[in-house]
Amino acid sequence: MRKACIYLSCSRTAFAATIAAWAVLLLGGCEVRTPGSVETRLMQAAKRRVTIGGRSDSNPLSASNENIHAGQRNFAAYCMVCHGLDGQNTGVPFADKMAPPVPPLNSTSVQNYTDGQLHWIIQNGIFPSGMPASRNVFRDEEIWQMVLFIRHLPPVGSLGDPPAYSGELKPSNMPQH
Ligand code: HEC
Repeated sequence: MRKACIYLSCSRTAFAATIAAWAVLLLGGCEVRTPGSVETRLMQAAKRRVTIGGRSDSNPLSASNENIHAGQRNFAAYCMVCHGLDGQNTGVPFADKMAPPVPPLNSTSVQNYTDGQLHWIIQNGIFPSGMPASRNVFRDEEIWQMVLFIRHLPPVGSLGDPPAYSGELKPSNMPQH
């Protein structure tokens, strides 16, 4: 048990570092290729039908305030870099520049997934997009709690900008090249 905890906390640090590297890369203004709309649509369709598993898995946790808040806390620590604190991209400067772009998690296309599919997405990530896998970062229960948070997102903008972007890191303040 102890070992498992140590392993979890190490990989969390590594995960956070990977995200920070991503953010620096993207904030540095590097060009990110945007696929054409046909390519995007085909990828989306294939993704939903073939790739995403877990369709019939149901959330073992109840939608209690406690579980939703626990999900929100982990989301605020690891997902907000790309999804914003509200899960709707608030204050994320590169959200629409990623290919595919970061979707607002309250959008119909995301909410149409089953709980099991959302759980699968968080666990496995979506290759080859920027959505990382977090199966070694979170316990199963923590992933289900984040699924609950995604089902109960706060109003857009209500939680402000992620702290990482509220200061001098904004792209407008970055040196031009
Ligand atoms: C490095 C940036 C990044 C981080 C960190 C990140 N995501 Fe994502 N996320 C993305 C991108 C990009 C997409 C769009 C992927 C696609 O459409 O293929 C996405 C899509 C999603 C989707 C919707 C998938 C779909 O098919 O529309 C969910 C749900 C999601 N992320 C949840 C999370 C959760 C929960 C976390 C934290 C554990 C997280 N993400 C961390 C970038 C990120």
